[in-house]
Amino acid sequence: MKPTYSSEKIAILGAGAIGQLVFHQLSRLTQGVALILRPDVTTSTHSSKSTKELEPELTFLPLSGEAEQHQARLIQADDKAALKELDLIIVCVKAYQVQGALTPLLAHLKTSCHLLLLHNGLGPHLELTPLLEGKGLHLGLNLGLSLGTTSQGAIKQAPWQVKQTGTGLTQLGHHAGTEMSASLKQLLLHAIPDSQWCSPILPMLWQKLAVNIAINPLTAILNSRNGELAKPQYRKLILALLDEVVTVAKHEGIELEKAALTERVFSVIKLTANNFSSMHQDIHHGRKTEIDAINGYLIKRAKSYGLSTPKNEEIVNKIIVLESKATAD
Ligand code: PAF
Repeated sequence: MKPTYSSEKIAILGAGAIGQLVFHQLSRLTQGVALILRPDVTTSTHSSKSTKELEPELTFLPLSGEAEQHQARLIQADDKAALKELDLIIVCVKAYQVQGALTPLLAHLKTSCHLLLLHNGLGPHLELTPLLEGKGLHLGLNLGLSLGTTSQGAIKQAPWQVKQTGTGLTQLGHHAGTEMSASLKQLLLHAIPDSQWCSPILPMLWQKLAVNIAINPLTAILNSRNGELAKPQYRKLILALLDEVVTVAKHEGIELEKAALTERVFSVIKLTANNFSSMHQDIHHGRKTEIDAINGYLIKRAKSYGLSTPKNEEIVNKIIVLESKATAD
């Protein structure tokens, strides 16, 4: 018999491909998972006056098996009563959208609400931790913050339809404030295939950061699929980028083993050889990239220790040029 978790009130902020994928995975086990309409975005789906009453049917096309449909409850960002009830908000927006999307909600959350950030790259947790602590002290809140990373793949085919494109490891763990309740952890780990709770979580996020540092910008610059990076002419540059990651991580108190990291990067290149990385796709579609939260994050942390990261700086500068051309077109 399927376990049920009817008492936990969960909402997802950011109904992109990963947000909707996690929505469906949770909805298989528990009813009433909500989607929070982002305060900083108005789309045709979101702009209607009647959205408060809307409970759309979302479609999920899993890698194998039949299409599934789950009903979502939409929560407006100013619906204080609905926000106050939430036990967990899973934040699935891009790293550079986290603060803008989350800050307006914070004052309306209940004392014990928990936040889980699930995005590529790192950075928002540093801005958010003092904000949460500040809010907590001021409002008597006791919020908790967990962080995670997922290598699952999905694409959004229509506003309320996602297709799963790949399986992959999901790693979650505690970062600040009150720990997530045992029942919420259990629900997440049951709902998301191949997921694990990691303590501490930051070393896992740094390993994923290293993968993104090595693959994402290079594929965008070369205008290539990930597999191109397996060619010997790119090895030296990839190793130089990873050297800088290992050095900065060490200053953060995180020991990354260079050989294991290199092996992981080349294994991801091989396993995803036919894919276009998310940064390649952002440039291709004229969107802002996540470079600030990936190589940019490394550079920022390096500067705080007086370290220089010339290879990563060179790469970031190239992406800034590509990005400005792409978004101007
Ligand atoms: O951002 C991405 O595209 C992915 O995280 C990865 C692992 C680089 C594969 O394309």
